[in-house]
Amino acid sequence: MMVLLIVSFCIMFLQVHSITLVLVWLSCMLSCALSSTTNSRVSLASTTIFNVMKYGARGDGRTDDSQAFTNAWKAACNSLPNAKSLLVIPKGRTFMLKPITFGGPCKPSRIFVQVSGNIVGPTQKTDWLGHHYDVWLLFERVNGLTVSGSGRIDGQGPIWWKNACITTHVPGTTCHAPVAMQFKRCNSLRLNGLTHVNSPRVHLTFTTCNGAIVSNLKIIAPETSPNTDGINIETSTNINIRDSIIATGDDCIAIGGGSSNIKISGIMCGPGHGISIGALAGTDVVENVDVRNCTMRKTLTGVRIKSWQGAFGHARKISFTGIKFDAVNNPIIIDQYYCPSIKSCPLSTLATKLSDITFRGISGTSSMDNVINLSCSKTVACTNIVLDSVYIKSAIPGRKVYGTCINAHGRASHVKPSLNCLKP
Ligand SMILES: *[C@@H]1O[C@H](CO)[C@@H](O)[C@H](O)[C@H]1NC(C)=O
Ligand SMILES: *[C@@H]1O[C@H](CO)[C@@H](O)[C@H](O)[C@H]1NC(C)=O
Repeated sequence: MMVLLIVSFCIMFLQVHSITLVLVWLSCMLSCALSSTTNSRVSLASTTIFNVMKYGARGDGRTDDSQAFTNAWKAACNSLPNAKSLLVIPKGRTFMLKPITFGGPCKPSRIFVQVSGNIVGPTQKTDWLGHHYDVWLLFERVNGLTVSGSGRIDGQGPIWWKNACITTHVPGTTCHAPVAMQFKRCNSLRLNGLTHVNSPRVHLTFTTCNGAIVSNLKIIAPETSPNTDGINIETSTNINIRDSIIATGDDCIAIGGGSSNIKISGIMCGPGHGISIGALAGTDVVENVDVRNCTMRKTLTGVRIKSWQGAFGHARKISFTGIKFDAVNNPIIIDQYYCPSIKSCPLSTLATKLSDITFRGISGTSSMDNVINLSCSKTVACTNIVLDSVYIKSAIPGRKVYGTCINAHGRASHVKPSLNCLKP
């Protein structure tokens, strides 16, 4: 009796189950068929697809597709809660976008942006009038966002590089060209595969983000283009950047104040200014930065920590491991006297406290003679600076290289050139 009951229950369950399966299958077929003819959304299981072409984008490289992208984004962002949205930017086309905000919070738990096509900025600065012009493509307050694909993002930098002002330059003021792409208050972000070229200023900025994995990017701008940093990280935590090529006119990657738990690996830098922490100012704090397995080719600086005089935060637990230099001007730098402007920087007894900084397993060549420059504040010493297995030669055969320090404390082992200036 018991066995019979169980068997019949099982059969019933199987039937119910297969009916559900058939229903799921039928509804999928139906919605696919419907949507391919009439609707702009396609449902595949729990992922809903939003193709910008269905929202009126032209993709001819000239027509302003901003409105179509905004509409497609709004639909994707307001789709089903706890589901997934996929915004498709199809390949074989080029979409011209004016400054645009992809804003959240969004209802779906995950949003995928598939960038298979190319995106270009306006070719005239006047197209920016009436828009915010700090940033071109802004993603803000979006959680669980993935942006990926083989598309190319072209910021039309050349129209900004000679003159960063949109219209006439007001004397005594400074114009800043826009950042090409910014992620602001984005949690659990994934960014991979894209090619970013010719940003007006910084190519990619992460601001107040928590949790990002960034990989397989190519970021390219001419060596002479001004302020075209590859990636800036500002007030962000748990950021992992790996396996990318960055060749621009300014910092390859710069890490600003308020950032912690930053991992950088497998980056090819150059030309450009290398990987930099700072310039730290005011109460800026940076902690737990791990830079490893990176190559710098013909960059001005290699790995650098810089802070303004008079700053009073701290930077600690910073390590650079497995770095290769090829004809880098100034490979290893700590600079607590950072002052790039012509205006005088007042002397101060305050300084960012630097401690637990490690340079390990570093080798290669420099095209200048001073290859290690640890210039710490005269009043606030750097402590526990560790150099281990650091070998830097001149890129010019037969030339001697040397290192210098001011108020740097720590230890050096297996270091060439020898660094006798490092105090215990
Ligand atoms: C080091 O980085 C290169 C790219 O520059 C990558 O191909 C390689 O797999 C990385 N090695 C390790 C051990 O991560
Ligand atoms: C080392 O860096 C300090 C601070 O920027 C600078 O003033 C000094 O000239 C540098 N030393 C050499 C030898 O380049």
